[in-house]
Amino acid sequence: MQILRFDVLDSTNAYAKRNCSLLADKTVITARRQTAGRGRLDRKWISQEGGLYFSLFLKPQNTDFLPSFTQLMALCVCKALSQLGAEAHLKWPNDVLIDGQKICGILSEALFTQNRFDGVIVGVGINVAQQNLSDIDQPATSLALHNIETNQEFLLQEVLKHFFNGYKALLTHGFETIRAEYLQHFPYMGKPVIIKHGAQDKAGVVYTISPEGKLILQTPEGFIEIAIGDMMV
Ligand code: BTN
Repeated sequence: MQILRFDVLDSTNAYAKRNCSLLADKTVITARRQTAGRGRLDRKWISQEGGLYFSLFLKPQNTDFLPSFTQLMALCVCKALSQLGAEAHLKWPNDVLIDGQKICGILSEALFTQNRFDGVIVGVGINVAQQNLSDIDQPATSLALHNIETNQEFLLQEVLKHFFNGYKALLTHGFETIRAEYLQHFPYMGKPVIIKHGAQDKAGVVYTISPEGKLILQTPEGFIEIAIGDMMV
């Protein structure tokens, strides 16, 4: 694993994408701030100094379990934050929250040239030392706002350590290798939720998460399995 460190980038994900043909498997790109940080669903990710922003570039032999990479990363962030004393939890599929407020978001992007797989970027943003998050248009928090002090480098190393502890097994067997641990950090079982995906909203009660990492929702029409979406609680 090698780490490329920058003071400023437009976006660590964008950097990885531009340079993917030059990057070795397991390269990490970090920036102290980003001028055009990107979130899921074409949102912005406000990236002022104080946060931890990094992208992990991976070139696995098989692409069978790519969606689970993001879930493994979310679990690893959650574990690292919990070790620091934060009561972090997972919101399916891959947000990390404290007290219902978002502290970490992950944007994964698989890269293909026609049918050739060029790698996958797992981009992670964690609010660490920011005191003022009023620019963010959704409930958000940081470690500093919970009086937890740490430095970005230590947190990065802890998250990566957890990630690479689980990565090999995940590559061969998929989400089921982390399911039990994921469920330990997922407090939404039995809770009513709405899943937003495109124009369609699905309302129901969370039944479980499947061995493939999908959300199983109990709805008036029966159980449904959802692969992606935004969970509203
Ligand atoms: C989300 O919308 O929840 C995902 C946010 C992902 C932000 C991170 S910060 C590092 C990497 N570079 C980006 O431009 N985005 C991701």
